[in-house]
Amino acid sequence: METTVFDKLMEQYGGHVLGTYAPAMLIERGAMAHVWDAAGRKYLDFASGISVCNLGHCHPRVTEAIQRQAARLVHVSNLFYNENQPRLAALIAKHSFGGRVFFCNSGAEANEGMIKFARKWGHDQGRHQIICMEESFHGRTLATLAATGRAKYRKGFAPDVQGFVHVPFNDIEAVKAATNSQTVAVLLEPVQGEGGIRAATKEFMLAVREFCTERGLLLLMDEVQCGMGRTGRMFAHQHYGVEPDAMTLAKALGNGFPIGALVVQQKYHDVLPPGTHASTFGGNPLACAAGIAVFETFDQDHVLENCEAMGALLRSKLEALKAKHPCVQEIRGLGLMIGIELGKPVAALVTAAREHGLLILSAGETVLRLLPPLTITEDDVAEAAGVLDAVLALGDKQS
Ligand SMILES: Cc1ncc(COP(=O)(O)O)c(C=O)c1O
Repeated sequence: METTVFDKLMEQYGGHVLGTYAPAMLIERGAMAHVWDAAGRKYLDFASGISVCNLGHCHPRVTEAIQRQAARLVHVSNLFYNENQPRLAALIAKHSFGGRVFFCNSGAEANEGMIKFARKWGHDQGRHQIICMEESFHGRTLATLAATGRAKYRKGFAPDVQGFVHVPFNDIEAVKAATNSQTVAVLLEPVQGEGGIRAATKEFMLAVREFCTERGLLLLMDEVQCGMGRTGRMFAHQHYGVEPDAMTLAKALGNGFPIGALVVQQKYHDVLPPGTHASTFGGNPLACAAGIAVFETFDQDHVLENCEAMGALLRSKLEALKAKHPCVQEIRGLGLMIGIELGKPVAALVTAAREHGLLILSAGETVLRLLPPLTITEDDVAEAAGVLDAVLALGDKQS
């Protein structure tokens, strides 16, 4: 039988790519809310590369900015200024709490930077311990694994990096009880992503902010998944009327171009002086060009407004599906970061949705996770709801 291009690729993947992933299919191209597989089949993408392509695939403004910058200057290292890094830092500051930015390349790297920032800040007082949340996810490096609230991700990688304790999410008394003379910070995701789309309660956010201020602890927020407009505000903590001392960004900051960031309040500007932290690629002109185009698009195309409107529409359709399908226990989330709790394994339903032409995700074992581009239309929402209706009917039949 003739070997196809696809067969050849699969042979190369199986033979030469480390088997850390189990990809579902080959995607060849994308445009806004849609992607196409190798056979030319079109899919509605409600996963956005795990909340990365928040503006949609190959958004024209971002693509144009990357192309233009790639022809001008790609990389110079941080031994030199480049014109895009301060511009992007100023845009992040403008849309958040002012502040100072350290650029890197991924969510885990941004969180590593935030952990180092907290340790450095507490160092002279002998404080280093960080209180983290159960069910949280912060990345796959050793320190971010130690901060992550699910032990299963750490299995096989002992010994753990020290200095992290875990408490139940949304439990201020547990945070207080875990605090001791070594505690330097509290770390949380305003909306837990991998942990099942669980938002911090307003009471918890206000209480933890007040407690951190009172006790001289840093409040650290991981906005890697819930930031960049995903919840209808540029940053999820803005729903709560509180500010973190530091936050991390990655995923959608470059709409698919790899870039991460640690953002700290201005008052901490001198905690990490020259020589204390670095990243070769961090803040290079190409990555920052993508980030600048992302913020410009949010401003010019009213992306947050669309996210809020489409989030409300999708939510109402999902509530109707909940009333119809007994397998649905709860609909959770904010904006276009939505979880459908089934209380039983959902992996087969993710596959079924794909077979119906809709890409979705799971979060943990029992939650269907929807993270569509924030630029989706009413037609996209209607199409997705139609597929989910069919998929949840399968869920009803599962024991
Ligand atoms: C909340 C959160 N933090 C950190 C990370 C790690 O980001 P990265 O995979 O870019 O290292 C993720 C990835 O899913 C995440 O959801």
